[in-house]
Amino acid sequence: MIEKSNLLDLAFNMPKTELHLHIEGTFEAEQMFEFALRNKISLSYTSIEQLKQAYSFSNLQEFLDLYYQGMSVLITEQDFYELTFAYLTKVHSQNVVHVEIFFDPQGHLERGISFSTQINGIYRALKEAETNWGMSFKLIMSFLRHLSEESAFNTLEQAIPHLEKIYAVGLDSSELGHPPEKFLRVFKACKNLGLKVTVHAGEEGPPKYIWQAVNELKVDRIDHGNRCLEDDELVQRINHEQLTLTVCPLSNKKLCVVNDMSQHPIKEMLHKGLAATVNSDDPAYFGGYMNDNYQVLIEQSELTKDELKQLAKNSFSGAWINPDRRQLFLNQIDTLFA
Ligand code: HPA
Ligand code: ZN
Repeated sequence: MIEKSNLLDLAFNMPKTELHLHIEGTFEAEQMFEFALRNKISLSYTSIEQLKQAYSFSNLQEFLDLYYQGMSVLITEQDFYELTFAYLTKVHSQNVVHVEIFFDPQGHLERGISFSTQINGIYRALKEAETNWGMSFKLIMSFLRHLSEESAFNTLEQAIPHLEKIYAVGLDSSELGHPPEKFLRVFKACKNLGLKVTVHAGEEGPPKYIWQAVNELKVDRIDHGNRCLEDDELVQRINHEQLTLTVCPLSNKKLCVVNDMSQHPIKEMLHKGLAATVNSDDPAYFGGYMNDNYQVLIEQSELTKDELKQLAKNSFSGAWINPDRRQLFLNQIDTLFA
């Protein structure tokens, strides 16, 4: 029987990717207050401690209300750059070698922050991480599903001059009441532009929303996807299509998608052959980055060595990464776990 401390060592040392990360969700309270001060914006919290005390959520919407407030202090290109570079520095130290990052342009456009201000800051940090550490990346533009299809189309139009920096499009924010089919036409337009598609589905929403994502939006990946486990036929379909699920353990706990980490469904997903991966979603709000997510699974969900290895491999199989680079890291994982 392998010791938990050995598994933790493996998890921390193994190369890994992060495939589900909202850059605005990496906004640490300290940095938020720093930016608020220099941009002369007042937050409705008087101290870092008071803000952190608000990090207790009973559902997705309660979190989103705070998340949108937090991002309101992002004003300049330098802000977006510093936010992104701080995240990349952190995960580089956790042996993350490839990242796929969401950003929410509508959350900034509606505050008068231009598309180019946002993307140029984020992209500069990603290129610097590539140069400094050889980290590879993809940038994913995400549409806010509580807004209209028209707003999504307007956003896509603003993205056109920047398409060479954007690899994929996503769909996030309040899931219930905003099914994927609401955005069918905009995702068709994105596919026609050559963009990959990944959609948050089955976090709070029913299996029906995941069916829509697969059948109608023809997604290349599914974000969260937890509730597919309620429908055996859907599980079979996801496996048949070889769709990766970007699962977020600490997020699931914080947003009450799961009651207890000991009951986290990621093991069941693996046992059913689903290509589940581990990700941090909004680490500043949910209590941890990549290694912390692996740690809670090892310490509280009885993750085995084989399961850990599978998760590590899935993180590369499901990534939009250069095939030679993928194989290099898959081989490293085999060696590390031998
Ligand atoms: N779900 C939906 N929308 C989001 C999330 C999430 O976990 N994080 C940031 N926006
Ligand atoms: Zn998310």
